[in-house]
Amino acid sequence: MNKTAVVTGSGSGIGKAMAIGLGRNGFNLVLIGRNKNNLEETAARIKDEKPNLDIKVLPADLTKRSEAITISSKIPKVDLLYNGIANWVDHDFKSATFDEIEETVDAVYKANLLITKALLQKIINSRGIIINIISDWGVPEADAPALFGSAKNAHSAFGIMLGKELKSNDVNVINIYPTDVTSKGDIDDDTQKAGQIRLKDLVREIIKSINSKRRIAQVHISHLGKNLEVAIV
Ligand SMILES: NC(=O)c1ccc[n+]([C@@H]2O[C@H](COP(=O)([O-])OP(=O)(O)OC[C@H]3O[C@@H](n4cnc5c(N)ncnc54)[C@H](OP(=O)(O)O)[C@@H]3O)[C@@H](O)[C@H]2O)c1
Repeated sequence: MNKTAVVTGSGSGIGKAMAIGLGRNGFNLVLIGRNKNNLEETAARIKDEKPNLDIKVLPADLTKRSEAITISSKIPKVDLLYNGIANWVDHDFKSATFDEIEETVDAVYKANLLITKALLQKIINSRGIIINIISDWGVPEADAPALFGSAKNAHSAFGIMLGKELKSNDVNVINIYPTDVTSKGDIDDDTQKAGQIRLKDLVREIIKSINSKRRIAQVHISHLGKNLEVAIV
């Protein structure tokens, strides 16, 4: 039987590319985000290539506990959870509004924890994998804006500590720390933009870490010079 991957934020950007990549690797898919049309576009794209996959589109706002729990009741089995939710606020804390503070904590931190909690027993049952997409801003020494950077650090710390908690359950938690990604492009676009990681390279490296026999906790991926660099911890 095929494995099932739950991919949050799969209506756009990196999450969409990850869903396509996981579909190409034979995973049945559950696609989650708020915008139903975007999720359906992702599903149609994957179905075109892989008509036999089972693909569920489940729109939800995962900052709401009730929606995370309802979604979980519709998913019988989870082998892989890809936590891809975030907003984007790149200015400093002095100019951040109270709304931006709440939105950032809710999207970057809370939403990813709520869906992880809602699906956790199913992930444990299948000795599954949790992938958290963080950012090179998600490490304490990053020269990042305090609001977004600290929320990413919180998501990162959650992944590292959860990985330790779940070691005895044989669940692997992998944090991914990419530098800038050409996230508005297409997974099959070969164009290499200066200082950016191509979606196809990012997805390939993440799937490599999933398929690795070795237990991996953190993958740092950058393309700041001429070549893609991958550091695995
Ligand atoms: N782009 C980069 O250069 C880069 C670099 C390093 C790390 N990252 C990280 O990679 C992840 C994806 O980034 P991206 O650039 O691909 O951005 P994106 O396209 O904006 O992806 C974010 C996704 O999260 C979903 N989302 C947001 N709030 C949600 C909520 N409350 N409930 C459910 N879904 C929600 C959005 O869909 P809806 O709006 O439909 O809900 C969207 O599909 C983020 O964690 C980002 O920080 C990105």
